[in-house]
Amino acid sequence: MTKGLFLTFEGPEGAGKSTQLNILAERLRAAGHEVIETQEPGGTRIGKQIRQILLDHGATDLKPTTELLLMFASRAQNVDEVILPALAAGKIVLCDRFTDSTLAYQGAGRGLGADMVYDLDRIACRGLVPHRTVLIDIDVATGLARAEQTRMEQQPTSFHRTVRDTFLQLANDDSRRIRLIDGARDKQAVASDVWAAVADLME
Ligand code: TMP
Repeated sequence: MTKGLFLTFEGPEGAGKSTQLNILAERLRAAGHEVIETQEPGGTRIGKQIRQILLDHGATDLKPTTELLLMFASRAQNVDEVILPALAAGKIVLCDRFTDSTLAYQGAGRGLGADMVYDLDRIACRGLVPHRTVLIDIDVATGLARAEQTRMEQQPTSFHRTVRDTFLQLANDDSRRIRLIDGARDKQAVASDVWAAVADLME
């Protein structure tokens, strides 16, 4: 379907995935690849407006279903505007979070269930699945101590435990696509594992 490569980064709060995404992007560019960095929610002008609503810690009245639909509204825009055109042009797209996050946060954390997430994924992403997903894991207490305070980080610890457990389960269920990396180590050690997790795709 596409000529490019679609790689996503996932993980609980404060795992360091955005830092690792930047390091990988620079390394790939240095090796001569054309790389597009994007994020969810966000990644486009429209997506950034949606992200503001989602992360606003004043938005305590935002309902779980609204949250879910806004995640996919941002994603639909990003898929059409940025990701599919870049893949069609043969580029490497690195996306900071994608549907695995929605399975963990809204499907499990909010209790909306995986089926609803997969239904919306079919509409918003139309079959686009990452070629590889790097899951940077961190224990909940360490991650929350590192993370910025937004509406999501203010959720109770039990919510974040469910999110982390769901990511680990997803990695366990699909170890071919999702590569689990321990994010509790220093940045360079994590970066070399990230490289090892995607290097075969560059050949
Ligand atoms: P970030 O911290 O990686 O920038 O992500 C923003 C927040 O949005 C983070 O708390 C995770 C949350 N999120 C969801 O709840 N569902 C999703 O589908 C995505 C992509 C992010």
